[in-house]
Amino acid sequence: EKKLIILALESSCDETSAAVLKNGREVLSNIVSSQIDLHKKFGGVVPEVASRKHVENISYVIDEALDKANVSFKDIDLIGVTYGPGLVGALLVGLSTAKALAYSLDKPLVGVNHIEGHIYANFIEHKNLEPPFICLIVSGGHTHLVYMKDYGVYEVLGKTRDDAAGEAFDKVARAIGLGYPGGPIIDKLSKKGNKNAINFPRTYLENDSLDFSFSGLKSAVLNYLNNSKMKGISIIKEDVAASFQQAVIDVLVDKTILAAKRCGVDTIVIAGGVAANSGLRQLLKERTEKNNFKLMFPPISLCTDNAAMIGCAAYYDYINGYSADMYLNAIPNLKI
Ligand code: KG4
Ligand code: ZN
Repeated sequence: EKKLIILALESSCDETSAAVLKNGREVLSNIVSSQIDLHKKFGGVVPEVASRKHVENISYVIDEALDKANVSFKDIDLIGVTYGPGLVGALLVGLSTAKALAYSLDKPLVGVNHIEGHIYANFIEHKNLEPPFICLIVSGGHTHLVYMKDYGVYEVLGKTRDDAAGEAFDKVARAIGLGYPGGPIIDKLSKKGNKNAINFPRTYLENDSLDFSFSGLKSAVLNYLNNSKMKGISIIKEDVAASFQQAVIDVLVDKTILAAKRCGVDTIVIAGGVAANSGLRQLLKERTEKNNFKLMFPPISLCTDNAAMIGCAAYYDYINGYSADMYLNAIPNLKI
């Protein structure tokens, strides 16, 4: 089997990233330049600011990735890049760069769906993982339950009808005054709080639905904070954080287990920024053990946005016969 060296780029949101991989699962380098500090003062990602920063950073990030992997452009066999979903201006920076590289090096180009990329983070970490399995993808922009039947073959079993799980974490954190991004801060605070202190709503929707909804929970937390303020009651941030987090993960875990039972698979994987959440990992661990499912998740560095996961997805797409041409465009609302 021929060995393939892949250069992958990711710029869909607020991380500029480049990675070099060998044959899909071996990461030679994975450089991530985060813009979090830049967006912090706005309490969220500002699209135009993000695009400009990607333009400034991308060639440095690529140089560093090549350097660290000890390869040069002439060693690259394949270029992989995120082409959606994401912020259009941000996506275009990675995409235009990838196209220019593919054209000038005369190498194939593969466009990768960012949500698919998150799933593939698991293939890097778990060398023996093979489909079929159920994947819960939970990030700042997405909450999806996906049945991955084979490489490139997905069935979306459910997704959020309003806010993504990570978005709920970020909005609640902002309301409590915790800063951005809220997920990791709420996770940390929750460890010191009582998760049963406040009974926030769990939204299960129709009986057999695998869809999610987090906007009602978000409103319930905001109402709780406003009511406490009006009544002059001081809140315990740790308890609000822990009770909110528990309400999110109860629903995520219940529906993930239900999906695995319904599809008759024995493996559950999680992916995306919220998959870094320690409460979610712990509860899933307990519930998968009880139900005899295997549970896998990526290390935290591969949960949040990075180009290595995009490179892994690009490899499997390519060996399965997909590649793009120079007409490949950014698709901000690309579906899996
Ligand atoms: O996958 P990601 O880096 O970007 C998107 O594609 O959206 O996910 C970022 C999201 C943010 O909403 C952040 O608050 C959340 O993941 N997040 C967490 C944790 N770490 C990151 N949420 C809960 N607990 C965490 N430990
Ligand atoms: Zn992401």
